[in-house]
Amino acid sequence: MSDQNYIIAPSILASDFARLGEEVRNVLDAGADWVHFDVMDNHYVPNLTIGPMVCEALRKYGIKEFIDVHLMIDPVDDLAQNFIKAGADLISFHPEASKHIHRSIHAIKDKGCKAGLVYNPATPLNTLESVLDDLDLVLIMSVNPGFGGQSFIHNSLEKIAQVRKMIDNSGRDIRLEVDGGINNETIGLASEAGADTFVAGSAIFNTENYEQTISELRSKIV
Ligand code: DX5
Ligand code: ZN
Repeated sequence: MSDQNYIIAPSILASDFARLGEEVRNVLDAGADWVHFDVMDNHYVPNLTIGPMVCEALRKYGIKEFIDVHLMIDPVDDLAQNFIKAGADLISFHPEASKHIHRSIHAIKDKGCKAGLVYNPATPLNTLESVLDDLDLVLIMSVNPGFGGQSFIHNSLEKIAQVRKMIDNSGRDIRLEVDGGINNETIGLASEAGADTFVAGSAIFNTENYEQTISELRSKIV
């Protein structure tokens, strides 16, 4: 799905929302690969963030890079379509937030957008087997979704390793993303377990020099 082996995807949840366009431009110019766009509805998760209008505004501002939309919302389908219109490149959602997972995936893919499924620390992987071949990305949460700045849950490493095996056995080009508590210490563990795409919010946006932070993170990938 991507020429690059490893993707760094800063979560804009930790950015300065008052200067969002500038923050996104700066972090991409500093070497980030994707923009990770966290959507929360105060229903599926106990927090409320940003919707398709903000995604569209980033496109209008001139952001042409890959926008990785992480939906933490229930229901999924209507807003997913709105995000496609707003310029999302990939939309991932939590399987328990959709009644018909296969339908939700294909409603996204039919519009030419990439699709991913997201698993929380306590969500079993049993839904993955039947739809893995349809996916462009699997996202393993290493925190419970809803907030930035939480500590990495180490049990997620086992889940990453399990999904890595499933992806390798499938022989398909599917990215394995990890999200939550990624920093200089945990990025190495997640990559060792098999992740190739790394979301980091506070570890990047709470520092002064994004370029230095991103290259440090990249250097810890094993
Ligand atoms: C949590 C979000 C994450 C979050 C990551 O629900 O999905 O993307 O912003 O933030 P950090 O890297 O600070 O844990
Ligand atoms: Zn996220």
